[in-house]
Amino acid sequence: MKVLLIGDGARENALAEALGKSNRGYRVYAMSSYVNPGIKEVVDKTGGKYYIGNILSIENVRRVIKEVNPDFGVIGPEDPLFEGVANAFREEGIPVVGPNKEGAMIEKSKVWMRQLMWKYNIPGRLRFKAFNNLAEASKFILEFGGSIAIKPSEQVGGKGVKVVADLQAYLSEEKRNALSKGVNNIAGLVKDEVKLIIEEKVDGPEYTLHVLTDGYSYLPLPLAQDYKNAYEDGIGPETGGMGSISGPDHLLPFINEEEYEKSLEIVKLTAEAIRKETGMDYIGVLSGQMMLTGLWGPTIIEYYSRLGDPEASAIIPRIRSDFAEILELTATRHLSKAKLEVEEKPSIVRAVAPLGYPLDKKMASGHKISLDLPKMRELGCNVYFGSVALEGMSLVTKGSRAIEIVVIDDFINASNKLDQCFSLVSSDTKLIYRHDIGNTLEVQVEKAEIVRYTYKSREKNGMLGISADWSPNGGLW
Ligand SMILES: Nc1ncnc2c1ncn2[C@@H]1O[C@H](COP(=O)(O)OP(=O)(O)O)[C@@H](O)[C@H]1O
Ligand SMILES: [Mg+2]
Repeated sequence: MKVLLIGDGARENALAEALGKSNRGYRVYAMSSYVNPGIKEVVDKTGGKYYIGNILSIENVRRVIKEVNPDFGVIGPEDPLFEGVANAFREEGIPVVGPNKEGAMIEKSKVWMRQLMWKYNIPGRLRFKAFNNLAEASKFILEFGGSIAIKPSEQVGGKGVKVVADLQAYLSEEKRNALSKGVNNIAGLVKDEVKLIIEEKVDGPEYTLHVLTDGYSYLPLPLAQDYKNAYEDGIGPETGGMGSISGPDHLLPFINEEEYEKSLEIVKLTAEAIRKETGMDYIGVLSGQMMLTGLWGPTIIEYYSRLGDPEASAIIPRIRSDFAEILELTATRHLSKAKLEVEEKPSIVRAVAPLGYPLDKKMASGHKISLDLPKMRELGCNVYFGSVALEGMSLVTKGSRAIEIVVIDDFINASNKLDQCFSLVSSDTKLIYRHDIGNTLEVQVEKAEIVRYTYKSREKNGMLGISADWSPNGGLW
């Protein structure tokens, strides 16, 4: 059997590894914009073929689909989904893991997502207001007294979100004026017309629930949490994720079973709403990037239309059943037959990125990086290759997170092993690596307890989701 994997990062490396070790004996074919050494290892081992090309070009991908004629496809990243690459697979009669571009709107447009959640009364929704022009958004910020998050309404790779607390209470009018100018800066990131979404600000620990669905049934994966900021203790610019944790078992130390079930219910209701709205089944991964808040308990911050990266690297290696077969069952719409067994021990992932990431791609590109892979594996570390290309015999950085190192073990042991493995990585530039990932869990457990107390008492009083400082007007505000 043949499978065609689209994408080139560490998430796709983790997917390739799962496909390569399946009992189903797949030949793994891959298409990405450069040669990922981890994916290449699997392609070579299984007798597939590696295609280099533009994965955002429907024409190019279609050509590869026709040449390979795979039994099914797996699409890793979101951008090809936004462009309609899953539609192209299905038009060619090939089952694929990944929603059509109509369904991927749930990730692409935060306005579409929030409107959908309100239209279908899905719990965990936040009040929001969408703006088509800057003047209105600025005016709103100047007049409004609550706490807000300002975001570009369309995906710009996690670089545009500003969270602002208690505007009236803490900011002088001059500062609010300065802030409304800040809106211009965010808007500058958005192509075409200016589109922004302002939503009520919430607070609490964040986590991600990934759910596989074939349009008929749902298979939730273990929870994961990603660490967004570039530097230790959560400071520095937001990145695509400097690492992640998963477990123990299917929970996280700060999320309980009941919250897990509620989160799953929210994701299911959303998948059903997408089907009603688009008239198409959602086939692939629907992931809630969630926050446990005093307002609702489990609350949606945004959705992914695919697996998160680096969350995937924390989850996939913990799966003890045949994950590749589960992916095939998703694509071919027999997911109800799937059985998921997960390693009880947790995992930690820490990314290694060249200095310059995430703000200066040029500075972070073109550096040699080397690692003692056999020794790292001996120490119990698994390595997934991300933004790093095999050029001749060297690994050269491409400007983003170069590798992700994963260990499955109790958090303290995993943390120590990761530090040992990181010492086996060297480069001609300085490397960014967060030692604290997986180490700061007590703080989050405490934070969750406070939030839990609040949402539980709201629940008792029938006040879930009702905000005092936000008066709904026209249904949404
Ligand atoms: N309404 C909100 N209240 C509080 N924090 C928020 C809110 N929306 C976003 N954030 C914070 O900003 C981060 C990025 O926002 P998100 O909506 O996930 O956009 P993206 O990942 O596309 O940049 C979130 O992980 C969260 O920490
Ligand atoms: Mg996000």
